[in-house]
Amino acid sequence: MKTGILKINPFSVEQDYILKAANIIKAGGLVAFPTETVYGLGADALNAVACAKIFQAKSRPLEDPLIVHIADKQDLFKVAREIHKITSDLIDAFWPGSLTIVLKKQEVIPDIVTGGLDTIAVRMPNHKIALELIKEAQTPIAAPSANLFGKPSPTTAQHVLEDLDGKIDLVIDGGSTAIGVESTIVDLTREPFCILRPGGIGIEELRRIIPQIEFYKKDGILSAGMYPRHYAPNAKVLIVEGNGKIQVEKVKDLAREFDLQGYHFGILAKFENKDRYGDFNVKLLGPGNDLVVCAANLFSVLRDFDRDKVDVIITEAVKEEGIGIAIMDRLHRAQGIKINHV
Ligand code: TXA
Ligand code: MG
Repeated sequence: MKTGILKINPFSVEQDYILKAANIIKAGGLVAFPTETVYGLGADALNAVACAKIFQAKSRPLEDPLIVHIADKQDLFKVAREIHKITSDLIDAFWPGSLTIVLKKQEVIPDIVTGGLDTIAVRMPNHKIALELIKEAQTPIAAPSANLFGKPSPTTAQHVLEDLDGKIDLVIDGGSTAIGVESTIVDLTREPFCILRPGGIGIEELRRIIPQIEFYKKDGILSAGMYPRHYAPNAKVLIVEGNGKIQVEKVKDLAREFDLQGYHFGILAKFENKDRYGDFNVKLLGPGNDLVVCAANLFSVLRDFDRDKVDVIITEAVKEEGIGIAIMDRLHRAQGIKINHV
C-alpha cells in the first residue's frame, strides 16, 4: 500500500483536504492525524473490520483497547452509557482536551474497539484538524497513537511515517503536536475513581473536580499505559534522580563508565545543564522549570537517539509534578522498570 501525505495548516484548515481524509475513514481505511497530544491512527469506530486494520498496522495486541474520539460532547451518549454528573463536570472542565474518560460502552461499539471489555475510553481532542475530520467522517473515530506497538508515540507526521509508511492509507501532516505526551486516562466505571495513565492533564487539575482521585496502583493490565515496557526507544534508558550539580555529576560518572566500556550512549539533559557535559552526545529536553516544553520534546528526542543508534540513554529526571508526572512515567516505562505512583 502506498501511504499518502496530506499537508494541512491547522490554523486555516482546507475543507477539500478534510473531505478527502474523511472519505478514506468512511470507506474503512486508516488515516493518521494530529491531535494536541500525539498523532492518532484513526478508523471508523463503528466499523469492526476497519478497526482490526489498526491492530494489524501497529502490530498491537488485540487485548489492548482503543480510544474513541468524538467532535461534539453530545456524541458521548452515542458511544457510552451511565453518564453521571461527575462525567459532565469533567467534560465541562477539560473537553475539548487531553482527558480520556472510561465509561460503560454502548452496544453499537464493536468488541474489537474495546478489547472485549464492557467499557469504552472516549475523548474530544483539542485540535482543529482532528475535530474537522471527525465531523466530516460523521462517525466517532477510534485512534490509538500512530506508532508501532511499544515505540514512542509520534509527535510529527515524519515519526508516523518512520513506523507506518506503507501500512496505512494516509497521514495528515499538521505539524508538531503541542502537548507531546498522551492524554490522561480516568476510569469512572469503578469507585474510587482513578487515573489509569498520567498524561496531558495533571492530577492537581483533576483534583479540582474529583478531590480524592488517585493513580491506579495495583498490578495488572488495565490500560496500555500499564504495560511495563512501553513508549520505548531501542536504547536502554537509565534515569538519574535529583537535580542541580549533584545530578549532573552522577550522570557524568555513568557516562564515563559507559565510555570506558565502549558503549554508544547519549545524555538527555535539561537546558540549564547543557554546558556541563563537555563533548558527550547531549540532547536537550527543555528547561527544568518548564515541564510543558519538556513534555512536548520528549518522544521526539527519544526517537532522535534511536536515529543515532545509541545503546544507552542516560537521562536527568525532572520534577514529578503536573505534566512532569507523565514525563517520568514514560521514562520509567522506557527503562522497562515497573513503577508505582505515590
Ligand atoms: O492522547 C492520546 O490519548 C492519544 C491520542 C491519539 O488521542 N491516544 C493514545 O492512545 O495515546 P493509546 O495508543 O495509548 O491507546 C489507548 C489507551 C490504551 O492504553 C488503552 O489500554 C486505553 O487507552 N484504553 C482504551 N480503552 C480502555 C478501556 N475500556 N479501559 C481502560 N483503558 C482503556
Ligand atoms: Mg499508544
